[in-house]
Parts: sequence; structure tokens; C-alpha cells
Amino acid sequence: MKPINVALIGLGTVGCGVYQTLHIQRQRLEKLVGAPINILTIIIENPDKHQKISAKTNVTTDVNAVLNNPEIDVVFEAIVGKEPAFSILKECIQAKKHVITSNKEMFATHGEELKRLASKYNVQIGYDATTAGGIPIIQIIQQLLKANQIQYVQAILNGTTNYILSAMREKNITFSTALDEAQKWGYAEPDPEKDIEGFDAYYKLMILSELIFEKQPDLKNVKRKGIRDITEESIQGLQTEGKRLKHIAKIGYDATGKLTASVEPEAVSKEHPLYAVEGVNNAIHIKGDIVGDLTFTGPGAGSFPTASAMIEDFCILFKKEQTAIASSKAHATV
Ligand SMILES: NC(=O)c1ccc[n+]([C@@H]2O[C@H](COP(=O)([O-])OP(=O)(O)OC[C@H]3O[C@@H](n4cnc5c(N)ncnc54)[C@H](OP(=O)(O)O)[C@@H]3O)[C@@H](O)[C@H]2O)c1
Repeated sequence: MKPINVALIGLGTVGCGVYQTLHIQRQRLEKLVGAPINILTIIIENPDKHQKISAKTNVTTDVNAVLNNPEIDVVFEAIVGKEPAFSILKECIQAKKHVITSNKEMFATHGEELKRLASKYNVQIGYDATTAGGIPIIQIIQQLLKANQIQYVQAILNGTTNYILSAMREKNITFSTALDEAQKWGYAEPDPEKDIEGFDAYYKLMILSELIFEKQPDLKNVKRKGIRDITEESIQGLQTEGKRLKHIAKIGYDATGKLTASVEPEAVSKEHPLYAVEGVNNAIHIKGDIVGDLTFTGPGAGSFPTASAMIEDFCILFKKEQTAIASSKAHATV
């Protein structure tokens, strides 16, 4: 049986989760995809940090080790920022490799171009890990909500801001104390700007927008507001009214037919589907025209939840490939 040869680009929080899962769950995954799985190459930035990787795997800073190796079937990309990730993935696709990415900032900007390129070169692109971490929302929409027209989405797409708002309410602490706590527990980056100003949630919302509405809203129809100015007094005031403050990302058509989006703090009461979503969890509430209201909740970030989304993409991709091979063999024998 021809093995599936894998490359990883990035071996940080997410890349390590993928690497470990491919090792720990090897037997089960190989049974699922119907072939042995080999990690041939890992691309990193600083080789001194990665001494413990198996000698069978080539760990290098040179991306050509992936691009020029025709044996590599699929690339997991987990680095930070638009570049060099976009350029690398473009070249991987042109070299006819499937790609699976967790990079939301890159995918929110260049996802459509990568999807078009993947279709041109007849390879697959998995991006479930870009949005809401371990919640398989992209696959749910792609695979299981085909007949429904989704009318709107409202979601908590950033675990850092949800943790901070939950901690401020539960412990009656200031924004900066809650942020320090989030950083101490590893829930917030050393530079938390993209999370607390709503950019991270905005990137994910734009990825959902492309998937559901096949476009992104005009920037003038997008409102983005962070949580830095929220005071513990305002949160306690809302608490006495039975309300909680949540940093909510929304997208849908307004009454005039314009696609509009927002990421901003909103006070919600007990009946609201996002009221009970606490701590670092994410949640996505969808209204489908046939099914009605659906809410999905779960871990929105972290090494294994994010790796889980990437590995599920990998299994779906290679199960599809095996089915295609099996069906072409069946036709050939008719
Ligand atoms: N962390 C999460 O929970 C999470 C959840 C969902 C999505 N994401 C997304 O997943 C991606 C990875 O996040 P992370 O938290 O795993 O980041 P991270 O811990 O900072 O790891 C980044 C990795 O990329 C490598 N790298 C950086 N620049 C590179 C370059 N130019 N060429 C090759 N390798 C390079 C680094 O190499 P060195 O190790 O040598 O420094 C490191 O291994 C990001 O786009 C992030 O937005 C993260």
C-alpha cells in the first residue's frame, strides 16, 4: 500500500499538536485512511528549538525540501501571519500537494485565491482549524448543511476575550488583571492586541462569510470594537440585571439587503444562545432556513483541539481519495 507522506510547516503550539496526534493515534488514523502515514519533513524557523524530533524526519528551515519533493502528498501549515504562509501554500498547491491550514489571518485574506488554485491543480484544501479551533464548523457547513440556506451567524470566536469577560464578572476584577491572568494561563498571547481588539474574531468571521455567503461584506459595512474599555462596574451592573457581556461576532443580510458584519461587546440575557458560553470556549449559533436554530460549542483554540480539526480534515481528504481510487478501479474492471 502506497504510504501517505506528510510535511509540517510550523512546529509551535498547533504544529506540535498535529505531530503528536499523528504519532499517538497512528494506528487508528492509518486504519481510517487506509494507508501508512509518514512524516517526511518539518519546516521551522529556528532549528535549535527542535532537537527531539525523530531522526527519520528531516527538520529544516528550507521550504524547498517540501516543494521539490514529489513524494510529499500533503502539507499541514501552522505558522503565524499572512507571509510567508500564503506564498508557501501557493507553491505547494502548484506542486500538486494537498494543503491543510490553521492560519486564519492568511486564509481570511487569501483563502478564495487558494481555493481557486487548489481547484485548478486538482488538490484539496482543508481549513477547518482556522475558525473556532476544535469545533468542526467548516466541515459541518460544507458537508452537513448543504440544503439549508444559512440566514445569519452570531458567534463567540475568540477564547481570550471570552475568558477575560467571564473572569471580570465572576471575580469582580479589572480588565488588566483579567488579561494578566489570561496571559499567565497561556490563554492570551504576549502581544494580545489582535484578540482584544477583535481582529482575530474578524478574520474568522470573514472565513465564515466566504463559505456561507460566497463573499465578504464591504469594509464600510463592518463594525469592529474591542473590549479594552470595558469596566468591572459595567459588567457588575449588567449582572444585577441578569445579563452578561459577550464579545459577539455577527454576519448576515440586513433589511436593505446589504451583507453586514460586526465584532463588538453585547449584553445578552439568559435566553440568548451565547449567554452560557464561558471561559476560553467558543460557540457558533446559526440560523438555517430549514433546520432553524443550531448552536455548536467547544474549545476554540489550543494545541490538541486545533490539531483535531486539522487531522479531521486530513482523514476526510484521504478517505475521499481512497473512495475515488476504489471507484476508478471498479469502473476499469467493468
Ligand atoms: N495556538 C492556537 O491555539 C491556534 C488556534 C487556531 C489557529 N491558530 C493559528 O495557527 C497558526 C500557528 O499558531 P501557533 O500558536 O502554533 O504558533 P506558534 O506556537 O508561534 O508556532 C509557529 C511555528 O511556525 C514556525 N515558523 C514561524 N515562521 C516561520 C517561517 N517563516 N518558516 C517556517 N516556520 C516558521 C515557528 O518556528 P520555530 O519553532 O522554529 O520558532 C513555530 O514552529 C497561526 O496562524 C495561528 O493563528 C492557532
